[in-house]
Amino acid sequence: MEIVHTPHAMTAWAQEQRHSGRRIGLVPTMGYLHAGHLSLVDEAKKNADAVAVSIFVNPTQFGPNEDFASYPRNAACDVALCREADVAAVFLPAPETMYAPDASVFVDEDVLCHGLCGASRPGHFKGVCTVVAKLFNIVLPDVAVFGQKDFQQAAIIRRMVRDLNFPVSIIIAPTLREPDGLAMSSRNAYLSTEERRQAVGLSRALDALMEGMPPSGTVLRHRMRDILEQHGLRVDYAEIVDAETLTPVEKISKGNVALIAAYCGTTRLIDNRVL
Ligand code: PAF
Repeated sequence: MEIVHTPHAMTAWAQEQRHSGRRIGLVPTMGYLHAGHLSLVDEAKKNADAVAVSIFVNPTQFGPNEDFASYPRNAACDVALCREADVAAVFLPAPETMYAPDASVFVDEDVLCHGLCGASRPGHFKGVCTVVAKLFNIVLPDVAVFGQKDFQQAAIIRRMVRDLNFPVSIIIAPTLREPDGLAMSSRNAYLSTEERRQAVGLSRALDALMEGMPPSGTVLRHRMRDILEQHGLRVDYAEIVDAETLTPVEKISKGNVALIAAYCGTTRLIDNRVL
């Protein structure tokens, strides 16, 4: 397995793969890998001959009061997990190799990014789109795999790929869960024992959507909020939206998506379910 530290060397690695006739799969991550990330690697392996995992805690997608500095990092462990998972290359760039100090060109999706997570994290998706576009340009992958847990992110990346004609197929892989239903996330590492107990409220709120006849969006939103609050969680949003436009719906139909963001102590967790 190659460990690559600069965009230039990563482009050279990818070129070599293409010249040898290999399809490249990219799994962009911010590291602190868990089984959820490894399931994205498995999905990439099914669709490509050589899989690269990028590990980069991207500063531009964190707001000034967010957890960029404290975001969990463990490069040695991540590299070992990638080796075990038979990854062909790990791209571990230093921030200064990814962004020029006077970088002034960014990629900004401007419709899907305003609600849901975008409302409480202004600028977040501009940072995500910019770094993902950069990773696509560096690697030129045939396929890239993202997790469904970040549903809004996935929708925005798909839109970016469509609107900017990136020649890459996007695969969205299902969310992996702990035995009690909590969606796997690197941020779960922040939770105390008591908060970890409360955190199950997110998946419980989504489970409750399946009970009974499909009622209105308003009823379902209240149902989710009630369950989140019963678990001691502070609700950021509990929404039911159209899967493409991410706009709230009132009359529920198959394929609508329920999305939740809630604070467990100071940790903000997200989850979603396609109805
Ligand atoms: O989902 C993530 O981990 C990040 O937002 C991503 C896509 C790797 C961009 O930094």
